[in-house]
Amino acid sequence: MSDTDVLVIGGTGTVGSAVVRRLVDRGAKPRVMTRSPESAREDGPETAQYAYGDLTEPETLPPLFEGVEKLYLLTPLHPNEAKLGICAVEAAEESSVSRVVYHSIHNVEADPAPRYHEAKMKVTDSLRESDLGVTLIRPNNFFQNDLLFREPIMEKGVYPQPIGNVGLNRVDVRDIADAAVNALLEPGHEGKTYPVVGPDTLTGPEVAETYSRHLPHQVRYGGNDLGAWTEQAGEMLPEWVVGDFQRNYQFFQEQGLRASREELDHQSEVLGREPRPFDSFVQEVVARWSGEGSEEAREA
Ligand SMILES: NC(=O)c1ccc[n+]([C@@H]2O[C@H](COP(=O)([O-])OP(=O)(O)OC[C@H]3O[C@@H](n4cnc5c(N)ncnc54)[C@H](OP(=O)(O)O)[C@@H]3O)[C@@H](O)[C@H]2O)c1
Repeated sequence: MSDTDVLVIGGTGTVGSAVVRRLVDRGAKPRVMTRSPESAREDGPETAQYAYGDLTEPETLPPLFEGVEKLYLLTPLHPNEAKLGICAVEAAEESSVSRVVYHSIHNVEADPAPRYHEAKMKVTDSLRESDLGVTLIRPNNFFQNDLLFREPIMEKGVYPQPIGNVGLNRVDVRDIADAAVNALLEPGHEGKTYPVVGPDTLTGPEVAETYSRHLPHQVRYGGNDLGAWTEQAGEMLPEWVVGDFQRNYQFFQEQGLRASREELDHQSEVLGREPRPFDSFVQEVVARWSGEGSEEAREA
């Protein structure tokens, strides 16, 4: 093994940092691309390398790929996400990389309207046109999105993500990271597409009800009013992101994002175990928000 065996793009974020921790735990030597190596080094595992790179500055990429066999690619939310992702694929093709695990989205083709969905499809096309051995990891809506909603859940008793009443098979980021790391480190995953989904099909009211069960107060679902959501979100997020999220939530409200029986059965193969249920995540997070969290819960 060289000094580095896996280049991780997106390795300081919610999913990528879990990927990096698991790679290190399993004896790999990841190199993490980041725009802020110093602060990333303070937060990440000691044996990971953190090096400057920016997908908007293609000239920063070649040195990061030196001596690397495998690439984990997570493309960030960005108005030019497709261009950024394709730039990473082109750099991989010019390098010693032969295997790529790309973080996409569950059933992304079903709802091509949001720019971040269109981007995943374009990056996937460019990977498929390359000679690289590719595995697609396609996660559902993250449980960990709820970490943004501590205040409404704990202080106002409202669950605000307008996911609707059809249902999503939301998933734990730690399961997404396990699926990605299995695909990176074990043989036999090239050319495969893995939906990564949780075991429960959850509607907005069911998510709220799960929080109510673990808290001393009731939590109600904030409802499906996307106009009201857009107004509030517009105070915190850039306009293009709000528009894309709104389209995505509309799709969730109309069609949901449910896993098929076959996809659910497939999880034990993808993970090597059963996926984490939402109830366990909520139990951990509520303990953490109440100041009683364990170290494992801190990663949740
Ligand atoms: N949230 C969901 O429910 C959900 C579900 C399915 C799929 N997804 C997809 O998951 C992805 C988001 O994952 P996440 O939440 O883990 O992301 P995140 O926490 O926002 O982290 C973004 C990562 O991208 C890196 N990055 C940002 N701009 C960059 C640039 N110009 N050059 C190089 N690196 C850059 C950041 O690194 P530095 O800041 O250190 O440079 C960071 O590591 C998106 O593609 C989204 O569409 C989300």
